[in-house]
Parts: sequence; C-alpha cells; structure tokens
Amino acid sequence: MSTTNPNIAKGLEGIVFTESKLTFINGTEGILTHLGIPIQEWAEKSTFEELSFALLQARLPKADELAAFDAQLKANREIPGELLDIIAAYPKGIHPMQALRTAVSHLGLFDPQAEEITAEARYAIGVRMIAQFATIIAALGRTQEGKEPIAPRQDLTHAGNFLYMLNGTEPTPEQARLFDMALILHADHSMNASTFTAIATASTLSDMYSAITSAIGSLKGPLHGGANEAVMDMLDEIGTVENAVPYITAKLDNKEKIMGVGHRVYKFFDPRSRVLRDYAAKVAEQQGKSHYYQILETIEQAVVERLSSKGIYPNVDFYSGVVYSDLGIKKEYFTPIFALARISGWVASVNEYTANNRLLRPTAEYIGPVDQHYVDIQNR
Ligand code: ACO
Repeated sequence: MSTTNPNIAKGLEGIVFTESKLTFINGTEGILTHLGIPIQEWAEKSTFEELSFALLQARLPKADELAAFDAQLKANREIPGELLDIIAAYPKGIHPMQALRTAVSHLGLFDPQAEEITAEARYAIGVRMIAQFATIIAALGRTQEGKEPIAPRQDLTHAGNFLYMLNGTEPTPEQARLFDMALILHADHSMNASTFTAIATASTLSDMYSAITSAIGSLKGPLHGGANEAVMDMLDEIGTVENAVPYITAKLDNKEKIMGVGHRVYKFFDPRSRVLRDYAAKVAEQQGKSHYYQILETIEQAVVERLSSKGIYPNVDFYSGVVYSDLGIKKEYFTPIFALARISGWVASVNEYTANNRLLRPTAEYIGPVDQHYVDIQNR
C-alpha cells in the first residue's frame, strides 16, 4: 500500500533541516558558490588546499594561515605502516570504494583520538583525513595491481602528490593543476546524500571515523558519486559516435536513466559540468577530439533536445571521467577521487552542524495494519 499524502517529502526533496554558511546552489540558474564566491572563480584562481581551509573555517585564509594549513596537511600525509599492510592484504579485484570504506574505518583504529567527539578533535581528525585520503586511495590503486605503495612527497601539492603516489611518476604542472581543479569542483555541494549521511551519523554524537565511513558508503551509489564510473561504462557500451543517439533514444524509450545527467537540485546545466566541458573542449581543440569526447558531445545534444523540458541537463559526473582518463586514471578510481575531494565538504559540514547539534530523527507516516494480535508461529 502506498500513500499519496502530500505532506510527505519523498526523498526529503525541498526540506531545509539546517543553516549553512558554506555552499549556495541556485538550481534553476545553475549557480554554485562557496562563501558567496562562484565555483568558476574557485576553479580558476584557487587551490584544493585553500578551498579546504575556507570550508573548514568559513572564511578565506591569509597567506600565512594558508601556508600553515598546507604544512599541516603535508605533515599528515603518511598513514600507519600497519594500515598499508592491511590494505595490501585486501582481496584483489574488489571495488576501490569498498576498500576505501573499510580502510578509513581501519584508519580510526590506529588513531588514539578517534573516540573523542569534541569540536577540536573533529577538526584535527578531519584535517588528518583530508591529507590521508590521498595516501590511502593511491595505496589501494597500487596494491590492487600488485605494486608497492609509494610514500608521499612533501614538495608536491595535494593534487600533484596524489597523482605521483598513484602513477609512480611526477605529473607535469599542467596535469597537477588540472587535477587540482577537478578536486576543487567536487569539494563541497551543500546537503547531498553523502554529506547528509555524515551529518546524520555525527548528530548521534558518534565519532568522526563513523561519520566519514557512512558518507563513503553513501557516495558509492550510482545515483550519487558512483555516476562518474557509470558514465564511462555507458561510453564503453555505446562504443561508437554513430551509436550514441540510437543508444540514448532506446534508453529513454525504455524509461531508463542516462548516467551523468539529471540532478535533484539543478534543473539547468550544473556549472561544474561546464567547467569540465570547457576543459575537455580545449583539449579537443589542441589534440583533436577524443573518442570519448565525441560521444559525450553527441549525448549532451540528444539529452538537451529530449530532456531539457524536464530540467534534465549534464551534471558534474558527465565530463569528469574524460578529464580523469586524460590523466591516465582507471575508471574504478573515479568515485574514490570524488571522495578524495568531498572529504573536505564532509568534514566542514559535520563540524558546522555539530557546533549546534540536534539529533537527526525524521518520522514516517505509518501505513501498516492496526489492532492486530500476536499469532503463535504454529497457527500462522
Ligand atoms: N535520465 C533520464 N531521465 C531522467 C534522468 C536521467 N538521468 N534523471 C531524471 N530523469 C527523469 C525521470 O525519469 C523523471 O521523469 P518523469 O517525470 O517522466 O517520470 C524526471 O526526470 C524527474 O526525475 P526524478 O527521478 O524524480 O529526479 P530526481 O531528483 O529523483 O533524480 C537523480 C535525481 C537521482 C540524480 C537522477 O537525475 C539520476 O538518476 N541521474 C542519473 C545518475 C547521476 O548522474 N547521478 C549523479 C548526480 S550528481 C551527483 O551526485 C554528484
């Protein structure tokens, strides 16, 4: 039995449950700001380190504060040797999001501060996690391929060091900057499913590792962070540019969803997808259109033609895969990379919410049977 009660906000759509100073989205005009500053300016002018500070402190850092924060991140890049051994012993062929969820939970076992739930402890653990996520994900990437993990370097940026630890070669400044931009675009996005999950866990006064582990589980799904990998699966399935329109038409005729398009809040182009599309277009201009780019361009056109009347446009996951592919990253790592960026938003949002904490506890309308009595098992 289902209900048609108009007071039920299915999927919590449109429900405002808290205030935040961090991120603003205007879904009808395709606007995204952090601290009031448009995402395009963050992507063009800032760094992931600076945006992380800004989200954690709800203000822009001065130069010395940013240098100190950067030094703090660098000092925390190492992960315990025992954890590296555990990661290396994970079964081969698992999805890296399963592994990341488990590894972050493991990380907490080695942190003497893990069970502290003061604001200071949450902040300190959060900063450590921002730094250590990169080392964990890169170690997963290498050990799953039977390679030795690579120790972090202090002389590289957060983005550059991650690519170095994953690929084993130092990225060019352009590659490091491109990856930095991708991290900036994914760092925070208001009350998305994974941030909400982290807050829900933290609102019980549970610890930071539990909150972030829950968030990773939430990000993993293909309706959320998992969509970037699903887009690449779709491109591989489509195979050729000629196949793109018939594929999309058949999917839509079958009432199936196209991955990387549509958004609960944006009913117009997701501004992050425009920044990534512009990058992909620039690469296409310089190096010729890649196979993936041509298919995406064709899908975008078909989707806008068929679905813009419903407010369905490409989201951030639509073009991110092409960017990561250009950096030599395998598609299974696209969603972990989303987590690598979103950890800053998770930590900042958990800290902001728990500063004025109230247990999250919504209700459901009961539609089950009433006035029943227990029937002994042999009589059912
Ligand atoms: N492809 C085709 N049609 C779609 C899509 C899509 N991707 N998304 C929504 N629609 C259609 C629905 O079928 C529905 O049509 P109807 O009114 O004729 O029944 C209408 O648009 C409204 O869709 P809802 O499902 O109600 O929208 P909702 O807000 O629940 O969906 C969501 C948002 C889950 C993101 C959805 O657009 C989707 O599944 N997209 C594909 C997965 C994806 O890319 N996820 C990443 C989101 S961004 C992020 O998390 C980083």
